[in-house]
Amino acid sequence: MSSEEPLKCPKCGAEIEQTAAGLISVCPKCHADLTDLAVQREKVGRKHDYSIARDDSATTHEFIVRTKGLTKIYTMGQVEVPALKNVDLDIRRGEYLSIMGPSGSGKSTLFNMVGGLDKPTEGTVFIDEVDMAQLDAYELAWLRCRKIGYIFQTFNLIPVMTAIENVTLPMIFAGMTTDEMMDRGRELLETVGLGDRLHHKPFELSGGQQQRVAVARSLANSPAIVLADEPTGNLDLRTGREIIELLKELNRESGVTIITATHDLKMIEASDRIVHIRDGQVERIELRSDVDIDVGTIHGQEEL
Ligand SMILES: Nc1ncnc2c1ncn2[C@@H]1O[C@H](COP(=O)(O)OP(=O)(O)OP(=O)(O)O)[C@@H](O)[C@H]1O
Ligand SMILES: [Mg+2]
Repeated sequence: MSSEEPLKCPKCGAEIEQTAAGLISVCPKCHADLTDLAVQREKVGRKHDYSIARDDSATTHEFIVRTKGLTKIYTMGQVEVPALKNVDLDIRRGEYLSIMGPSGSGKSTLFNMVGGLDKPTEGTVFIDEVDMAQLDAYELAWLRCRKIGYIFQTFNLIPVMTAIENVTLPMIFAGMTTDEMMDRGRELLETVGLGDRLHHKPFELSGGQQQRVAVARSLANSPAIVLADEPTGNLDLRTGREIIELLKELNRESGVTIITATHDLKMIEASDRIVHIRDGQVERIELRSDVDIDVGTIHGQEEL
């Protein structure tokens, strides 16, 4: 069968229309998971990768996330709040990047744009060279489910669910079988050091353990990118450092790109690069190796 023939949903037979971005994972009619079909047909989620591979532009492909002129203006009644102003940022595949900036500087706003949780007012976010604005609702859902893992400051676990249920939840949406989910959930919880806490609910776990569950959950569907917005914000210094070390280990071992926000200088040690943002703009970008971090001080400043 030629790849030019229309894709048909194996469940309901509906014809699946390719969109500009070429990412279709769910039948728009009956919502059946089309990933397998699409991968077989060398289409879904890969079209852009293929075109990049063909044009040999290794330099472009090196970046898993690129933002171009990213601007976000929140409108509150008559008042306009510019949260991001013209941000150009290239993030390398496999990089551990820290976004540093004071409260209100636009870190979470940037995360929401990169994570496809909100739309920019102007500018573009490219994930693997795919312009996010070109994705329809289904494609965006696919991207959020499969390609990106999220970790939040407040852990955001589901309180009535056990650790393993929280971790396996995103796998349900990705269409895994129960056995596969349980095996992978157990494995991930073991990786984050919670092999003996599978059936504990969040309130039966410490803050650090809850964040470990959230780290395991973020990895449920083997994402290429993990976005961690102030993952240590609600933890004490030691526990926070343990979480950062865990993220760094995952970054080193599995090559997942970690993008993390913090306003805490003590949390940047694991980073390859540090992007400083202020008032919605990139102020400067530093290599970790150029930053002088002593115990408790940076650039001679006292601990914050
Ligand atoms: N939904 C919203 N509506 C209106 N203004 C908003 C909204 N979200 C954020 N802002 C404003 O945008 C600016 C950037 O906010 P953002 O949450 O991105 O900052 P941040 O760097 O994450 O801060 P923090 O370190 O406190 O989490 C702030 O001035 C904030 O008040
Ligand atoms: Mg924030």
